[in-house]
Amino acid sequence: MARWAYVNGRYLPHDRAAVHIEDRGFQLADGVYEVVTILGGRFADMDGHLDRLDRSLNALRIPWPVNRPVLERVMRELARRNGIHDGAVYMQVSRGVAPRDFRFPSPRPSSLVVTTRRVQRWTQPGQLEEGVPVITIPDIRWGRRDIKTTGLLAQVLGKQQAAEAGAFEAWMVDPDGTVTEGCSSNAWIVMAEGTLVTREPSHKILNGVTRLALLRLARAAELTVEERPFTVAEALAAREAFVSSAGTFALPVTRIDGQAIGTGKPGPVALGLRRAYIDDVLRGRL
Ligand code: PDD
Repeated sequence: MARWAYVNGRYLPHDRAAVHIEDRGFQLADGVYEVVTILGGRFADMDGHLDRLDRSLNALRIPWPVNRPVLERVMRELARRNGIHDGAVYMQVSRGVAPRDFRFPSPRPSSLVVTTRRVQRWTQPGQLEEGVPVITIPDIRWGRRDIKTTGLLAQVLGKQQAAEAGAFEAWMVDPDGTVTEGCSSNAWIVMAEGTLVTREPSHKILNGVTRLALLRLARAAELTVEERPFTVAEALAAREAFVSSAGTFALPVTRIDGQAIGTGKPGPVALGLRRAYIDDVLRGRL
């Protein structure tokens, strides 16, 4: 089956799709992106992702490349052309093409690239039965992590370090000893007495769209929830830990820096929230 991508107004064969060498996304990471999961043919929380795209674009004063209904139509059409029932749509918007200069160029069209990815299985064998390991690393990122920019070098290095350590994810730690988030996920723990804890939104983390949905589900299930920073020591003493993101939903973490968390097996809060989230997407409630 032919594979299509969308670049600046045109659907192109994936292997011939390209942006200009002076695209500011390419030269300066002067752009933002979103990843939207497609689960059972349904887009998970399209509105949440487009709302966040709007915030990212506004924060950087990058104009929308096309209006919101058109972008949504392009995403759905590309997924249809590529026959994606389970997978993800990736979209990236940059400040456009201009001779390299740090300052904003004169007004010009923003660049828009949309691609899709097919997913055969959402977890690897054993991940739900055993949970996944994470490592902790210093958070060396810039001060506006709430903007979903394509400038991801700290996360590239962190994920590679995790992979080389045999871990699924790296949790980044602020100088004060608190966990900010994973390189491409938000971090959660369930304290020994049952309170669910995840860091509050601020400039220090990306406010995950999945995170917000899981918080709503947790509150609806009458779990006690605290949005606050937690330390690595608290995480090591937790009953459960997990990560959330588009694509991992809620995925149990059972080892941090080699140390078992709780029973060392996935716990009911992480697995319950995962089930509830997937159900909501499949039933079109998200
Ligand atoms: N990453 N924190 C960071 C730093 C992220 O990159 C992501 C998502 C999240 C979770 O956000 P959401 O629930 O909206 O996916 C938190 C995406 C999946 C990526 O870069 O591929």
